[in-house]
Amino acid sequence: MSETPPPVSDQPVLKLLNVESSYGPIRAIRGVSLQVRRSEISTVLGSNGAGKSTILKTISGIIDPRKGSIDFKGQSITARDPAYIVRQGLSHVPEGREVFPLLSVHDNLAMGAYTRHDRDGVARDIEAVYRYFPILRERASQEAGLLSGGQQQMLAISRAIMAAPDLILLDEPSLGLSPKLTREIFEIVVRINRERGTTILLVEQNANMALNAADYGYVLETGRIVMEDTCARLREKEDIKEFYLGLKEAGVRGERRWKKKKNWR
Ligand SMILES: Nc1ncnc2c1ncn2[C@@H]1O[C@H](COP(=O)(O)OP(=O)(O)O)[C@@H](O)[C@H]1O
Ligand SMILES: [Mg+2]
Repeated sequence: MSETPPPVSDQPVLKLLNVESSYGPIRAIRGVSLQVRRSEISTVLGSNGAGKSTILKTISGIIDPRKGSIDFKGQSITARDPAYIVRQGLSHVPEGREVFPLLSVHDNLAMGAYTRHDRDGVARDIEAVYRYFPILRERASQEAGLLSGGQQQMLAISRAIMAAPDLILLDEPSLGLSPKLTREIFEIVVRINRERGTTILLVEQNANMALNAADYGYVLETGRIVMEDTCARLREKEDIKEFYLGLKEAGVRGERRWKKKKNWR
């Protein structure tokens, strides 16, 4: 305890060490260790059921881990309750983009800012998200439940931004969206990161989109991290090309081996 901690800027914003989470007897993630550095986009790639959502739910306090520790901005948030973790500056955009369907788009955004007291800052951020997603400005007074899936995803991301968080957890924004809409949303996520310096942990099944958007990546298979590297290097790895990007047309026996083993879209 007598040691001086390193300056905050040298520390990762988020640090998981040997985290294990279960649903009853089912161990969904095992020994997961990962770090997210400030102002970067980190990604966890994994197929359906790999444990991506479980990692995010464990970070945001929806699930308590059986083992391991989670530090956020140098403080333990392990097994703290979700409301406390939100107040520390962590926003979770869950899978399936949960918006308040009966509230207007504008009121959904205002709800995102409920922990804030800087009215001017809130007004500026509403303007900022309307600039990123002009369709939300057009639909500002409409019920959020009437938006398309893509627009609801935009709103869910925008609502997270409205909390002015230090870290956004983004769960499969591509789910159920067309490739074109997915590309548009990813472009804006990258702009938000570059222009506002927002730190993001993105989990995705769409490895192609995620590896192009993120700086650093982890590969998750059946609850374990099996590989990690910069996304630039991951994109060049043969295993990744073969299994996760589907670029390798033929294996040694002249067949598309990746298709048999993996279940990527
Ligand atoms: N509520 C739950 N009850 C029981 N098992 C669950 C529950 N949610 C997820 N699982 C299981 O945990 C594993 C990881 O799930 P999940 O984290 O949702 O994966 P992903 O988000 O990568 O698709 C899967 O085997 C899944 O079936
Ligand atoms: Mg999931």
